Amino acid sequence: MKRGKIIVRGGQCVLPGGTEQKDIVIDNGKIQAITGTAAQGQVINAEGCIVLPGGIDPHVHFHLPLAGGVFSADDFRSGSIAALAGGTTTIIDFITPRPARDGKTAQDLEEAAEQRLSEAEKAVCDYSLHFSAVKGMKHIADQLKRCRDRFSINSCKIYLAYQDSIGLDDTEAMNVFQAAAGLNMKLLVHCEWGEAVDFLRNGYIERGRNDARAHALSRPVWAEQLAVQKACRMAEMCGTEIYIVHISTAEGIGEVIKARQRGVRVHAEACLHHLLLDEEKYKNKDAALYIMSPPLRSSGQKEALWQYLEAGIFDSVSTDHCPFMRTEKTGETPFTLIPNGVNGVEERVALLMHTATAGYGFTPEKVSRYLTGGAASVFRLRGKSGAITADSDADLVILKPDSTRMITAQHHHSQSDYNCYEGTPAGFSIQTVLRRGEITVSEGLIAENPGMGEFLPAEY
Ligand code: URP
Ligand code: ZN
Repeated sequence: MKRGKIIVRGGQCVLPGGTEQKDIVIDNGKIQAITGTAAQGQVINAEGCIVLPGGIDPHVHFHLPLAGGVFSADDFRSGSIAALAGGTTTIIDFITPRPARDGKTAQDLEEAAEQRLSEAEKAVCDYSLHFSAVKGMKHIADQLKRCRDRFSINSCKIYLAYQDSIGLDDTEAMNVFQAAAGLNMKLLVHCEWGEAVDFLRNGYIERGRNDARAHALSRPVWAEQLAVQKACRMAEMCGTEIYIVHISTAEGIGEVIKARQRGVRVHAEACLHHLLLDEEKYKNKDAALYIMSPPLRSSGQKEALWQYLEAGIFDSVSTDHCPFMRTEKTGETPFTLIPNGVNGVEERVALLMHTATAGYGFTPEKVSRYLTGGAASVFRLRGKSGAITADSDADLVILKPDSTRMITAQHHHSQSDYNCYEGTPAGFSIQTVLRRGEITVSEGLIAENPGMGEFLPAEY
């Protein structure tokens, strides 16, 4: 059904060439024109606001199953509502087959993909998925090829951590690097040296250190650095294009820089929590609420990440959104059994824009690259150019400067009952969000019927 024209009027539009006050004309879900002149249509007043391309968060975990029947707090519906409410119009989650365990073989990737795609149908923002290759998967190149051709997904993740569940040993990892290279598929890599982390974790537990701080101590900076170094060497050896998720240390990103100098195709992702929070959180009584992997680092590491962002070394800032309920994170449980992950999909756009521009003097264009453009160019999803350009999908977010808004679990859309950014000034309110030209958030409120998200095939 053809929809009428919409004019986003007079906002400071973050365009590929710079930020300019413009009208954006939207017709039938696409950006038709970016003009200085008025036109006919339904007008959304954006004066005094920043207009950005709708955010792309390339790393979230909705409805993530853990041992014991526990799932991350958000399913595809609540997680995607939170995404839209926060100005993110596209998310990328994961297809993770069950790993080999107790003599049983790993789940078939195609079967896992069918199941995950059906779970994702509830999403109200647009979405794609990355495959994952897990422990014990056989014939990985064949499986990836068959699934890529069937599902139009062209990225796959592996874990060098989590050796007791999905993590790969070096030989398995090299096989996946080789398979991905052969298919020209992007390989996402979780870089922590799993065997060393497990050795340290066991040591802490044996010495009676069950507390959340021991989680961070058992995942040291060098465990990330060495895993990044190894991933870059494997990529170099096999000719694979890789994307290293959630780099949390200067040493880790330093390895990326060295690899790029050798010509390795390596992209780098930072995570919102590593940019905004630090290990001081592990000194408080609710330290367990901040357990994630890699853990929060020192404030010096946090500042170093900002410097690398400023220098344009990273490709994107994701959230790794994977919150749980307060009771699931806390209690008498040893740190090894506490589910990993925190929220962020709703907070990313406002908090990154605010902190990066007000705190570090970034231009809105630079922030927009981290929120959208970088992920768009790495993962190449249909219609999502990641920029405000004629003919792109009309995915827009209008940010209104707001010095009073604070992040709080009371008002967030996640189903989790706490927010790791509680009390942080947001700097902006999310005034309006358009997903393919449909108004899904208006005056800060999510539409009663925001419509459904679409699965986005990768263009490769
Ligand atoms: O702590 C984290 N990152 N939780 C989500 C699962 C993962 O490692 O990506
Ligand atoms: Zn993750």
